[in-house]
Amino acid sequence: MNCAERLVSIFGSQAEVARTLRLDRALVSHWVKSGYVPARWAMEIEHATDGRILANEVLNEANAKKPVRLKSRPDGETFIPTGSEKMNPFAPAKRIQSFHPPQRTLMGPGPTEIHPRVLTTMSQPAIGYLDPVFVEMMEELKSLLRYAYQTKNPLTFPVSGPGSVGMEYCFVNMVAPGTKVIVCRNGVFGGRMIENVERAGGIPVVVEDEWGKPVDPQKLEDALKKNPDARIVAFVHAETSTGAQSDAKTLIEVAHKHDTLVIMDAVTSLGGTPVLLDEWGVDAVYSASQKCLSCTPGLSPVSFSERVVEHVKARKDKIHSWFMDMNLLLGYWGASTRTYHHTAPTNSLFALHEALLLIREEGLENSWARAHRHHVALKAGLESMGLTFLVEEKYQLPQMNAVRTPEGIDEAQVRKTLLNEFNLEIGAGLGPLAGKIWRFGLMGYSARPENVMLCLSALGSVMSDMGHKVHVGDAEAAAHQAYASMHSTEAKQKQAQKKKAA
Ligand SMILES: Cc1ncc(COP(=O)(O)O)c(C=O)c1O
Repeated sequence: MNCAERLVSIFGSQAEVARTLRLDRALVSHWVKSGYVPARWAMEIEHATDGRILANEVLNEANAKKPVRLKSRPDGETFIPTGSEKMNPFAPAKRIQSFHPPQRTLMGPGPTEIHPRVLTTMSQPAIGYLDPVFVEMMEELKSLLRYAYQTKNPLTFPVSGPGSVGMEYCFVNMVAPGTKVIVCRNGVFGGRMIENVERAGGIPVVVEDEWGKPVDPQKLEDALKKNPDARIVAFVHAETSTGAQSDAKTLIEVAHKHDTLVIMDAVTSLGGTPVLLDEWGVDAVYSASQKCLSCTPGLSPVSFSERVVEHVKARKDKIHSWFMDMNLLLGYWGASTRTYHHTAPTNSLFALHEALLLIREEGLENSWARAHRHHVALKAGLESMGLTFLVEEKYQLPQMNAVRTPEGIDEAQVRKTLLNEFNLEIGAGLGPLAGKIWRFGLMGYSARPENVMLCLSALGSVMSDMGHKVHVGDAEAAAHQAYASMHSTEAKQKQAQKKKAA
């Protein structure tokens, strides 16, 4: 069957195809008669059929029937203008059309799916970054961020740039040349912190822990005793590369006992598990918009305590980055002033405002509980397929589930098939864990029951197709069972609370 015939068979009739695609019926009839769908309809067809007919199939078939005449310069060939047309020699070699990404279910380590309300907000008309309406929105955004971080720190705002920029913002402002910094490394991102210390001219002292294990507070204590001149301790709260959560409160207590400041990476924890800045006494923190906040990537919420602000202001040397200099950024994001520093990514900031508002409406505790609920169900399903978690249960992050890939399975092929056949993205292992683990994210808006069920049934079906012993359906049943028992426990707790109150 050609693509035109497949369309009719999917929708039942030519009239239904025309109605779905909002086309004239005669046009659809023409496609069927000529036996192909013209190339320019490729993306619409993929969308309308939810990927059952792929844009590439339409393009290839159309091209075979009626080859597309290249207007721009083909790869490796000398440019020959056609007719009177003069081609610009810098024009792209292939014909480019508007980009329409496919609808994917994102269950990797980030980015996550974006809530429809956030997408709508992001597509609102642009306004100036000094427009009074925008300035008002910035103040609301800062207060919503303080809620998410559970802090009263005045200096809490989103830096323009991904999580890596937030990381660099903390290190470049706080680490002067010669500053000794204890960096705890138990995965990829601790390694990046070491790089940042070195590039800022600091002296890193590394506390190593095995990948998949949390940071050991005793090792930190030992390192601080050996290095009484250390000024800063840095650690990753939720190590995305392994799915392990460290005990932030204890690590901060140890660091403060030795009179150091603390930089905490909360890229994967913020919005997914408790991040209690004021209660724990975190001095400096950074996160990212595209993880449990479920916003577009490219913004990094940061927060500095008053102690850190004083520490940075007391520096005698110039901060080694113009863009990330806290003193200059304060001119735009500070409470009293609003002067030009850089052109703020206005529509992304609208989006972050909406994403944080969604968390405020849901309630922070509820959003942590949601990630946990779906983690329990996903875990039940994965374990019923014989998969084992990399991290010991008490340190497992609900929003980042790392499981060992089964022996003898082509793990990359599994991920590829999940993407191609089920539009489902999961994550691979990084560094020493490459090829050894899969990472399943349940971050923000991606933490939904339909995602858990799709993931389990798609994974079961792909593994079974590849000859791995799984009984299709068992994982879904295990997840349903887990949901059911959580619902019944919750109902009992509510009843008990009601009785107590009465
Ligand atoms: C723990 C952690 N820190 C830092 C980063 C860097 O963030 P970004 O990729 O947004 O630059 C990531 C990204 O995955 C991360 O997981």
